[in-house]
Amino acid sequence: MVIKTIRYHNPNKPKLPPGPKPWPIVGNLPEMLANKPTTKWIHKMIEDLNTEIACIRLGNVNVIPVTCPVIAREFLRKHDADFASRPISVASDIISNGYMTSILTPYGEQWKKMKKIIVKDLFSPHRHQWLQPKRNEEADNLMFYVYNKCNNGGLVNVRIATQHYCGNVFRNCFFNRRYFGKGMKDGGPGLEEVEHVDAAFILLNYVFAFSTSDYIPWLKLLDLDGHKGKIKNAMRIMNKYHDCLIEERTKQWNDGSKNVEEDLLDVLISLKDVNNKPLLTTKEIKAQVIELMMAMVGNPSNAVEWTLVEMINQPELLQRATEELDNVVGKQRLVQESDIPKLNYVKACAREALRLHPFTAFNVPHVSMNDTMVGNYFIPKGSHILIVRSVLGRNPKVWSEPYKFKPERHLKNDGSDISLTEPDLKFISFSTGRRGCSGVMLGSTMTILLLARLLHGFTWSAPSNISRINCVDSNGVMFLDEPLTVVAKPRLAAELYNLSSK
Ligand code: HEM
Repeated sequence: MVIKTIRYHNPNKPKLPPGPKPWPIVGNLPEMLANKPTTKWIHKMIEDLNTEIACIRLGNVNVIPVTCPVIAREFLRKHDADFASRPISVASDIISNGYMTSILTPYGEQWKKMKKIIVKDLFSPHRHQWLQPKRNEEADNLMFYVYNKCNNGGLVNVRIATQHYCGNVFRNCFFNRRYFGKGMKDGGPGLEEVEHVDAAFILLNYVFAFSTSDYIPWLKLLDLDGHKGKIKNAMRIMNKYHDCLIEERTKQWNDGSKNVEEDLLDVLISLKDVNNKPLLTTKEIKAQVIELMMAMVGNPSNAVEWTLVEMINQPELLQRATEELDNVVGKQRLVQESDIPKLNYVKACAREALRLHPFTAFNVPHVSMNDTMVGNYFIPKGSHILIVRSVLGRNPKVWSEPYKFKPERHLKNDGSDISLTEPDLKFISFSTGRRGCSGVMLGSTMTILLLARLLHGFTWSAPSNISRINCVDSNGVMFLDEPLTVVAKPRLAAELYNLSSK
């Protein structure tokens, strides 16, 4: 690939970060389209330029990838206020129903309103406690489901188990139910739940997927890369399941047949403004619920699938984790959320998966609201900042043996508590600043308990015809290339797997 650094005739004019020379109007879009997947093209360009910050011009947008924690902190900590917006895009517009939500909505009053509700009313420590019985039900159902798979041949598709645990927690928290349809006797997902969770992953895959029409506005009406069609289809599925439940529940609150909050949908419907009128419209609730489902299913399920594959490839890690679990929990009961503070090794394993195998190659894009100087570079207003999660966590200047899965690198000498957050941005887990994740407590709890339950409840090994499972990530969202399908055997008394109540 030939890369020419952008040069300016005026030596006093502040410089953009280095990058390929753009063509008039289309910028570097031709190269982007000729070098799919875009993620790998950007990685290679950064490597060839030998830089940790670059500027790629896509149509009329400056896209700024960043791969080093020092520069990432400049953007998300020092200049956080200048970079607290989000891009306008066809996908974001459709998913957020015209920017009514929190995650995808550009900086402004609507974002502030929704962010406040999410932090204060949905995911506060008090609400976290209130939701615990629902999380417990789904953690118990996970054990029941995997146990049934063990008895039915022993091969477990870990991706189905982890994604549907997350989907179940979502449905239980928001809709007070695990199943949209009749349900399954073995605790697994039915057709409806598979369709529902798959739709969320399609949205996650295409929401920030370098669609040409986001960079050349007059292409918006066409759907050249087919992303818009995929997003609309996934939204149709989401709406098919959510809309009737949200409308019916709103009616119940309006006619007084419901007056006790039982789930987060009730909470959203009952919120009142200063005039005691509903704070949220039905449209706002529908859009926000979909966006929160996306936030809840992707990162935890992916982190746990990767943790397990890495540990199966290094059985001594599995052994150390199960020893910790047996010491803290014993074998007479299942591991509970209250055990989490004592599970430092299990947490180090989850943290290592977030470092080495982030769910997405890039952090959610930030957009600059003002012309800003970062380091010695000029970042024009409207630039899209892409912190490259996959390179940041594998940066050899920060991490020794960066490609090795080594949980012990996170253990502290004094044995103090390990968390999944990384405010110094040596890798991106929940990020930081105004646009940082609002679901740290829930995201951490779901990830750690899911992993702890699978490790404590079962022994895991590769099928007998495979000596080592290939750790290759896919393009787009960074799943393990093929769903992890491995052998599980129960390690606790049979009655402990049968606690599922719903
Ligand atoms: C392991 C689990 C999770 C991880 C690793 C994670 C990670 C992230 C990341 C990297 C961002 C983008 C931050 C940025 O733009 O700089 C984010 C945003 C966000 N996350 Fe999470 N997340 C997780 C779970 C959750 C959960 C369970 C929820 C709540 C249901 C949630 C709610 C949000 C929200 C609302 C935002 C947008 C904040 C904003 O734009 O103002 N996340 N998350």
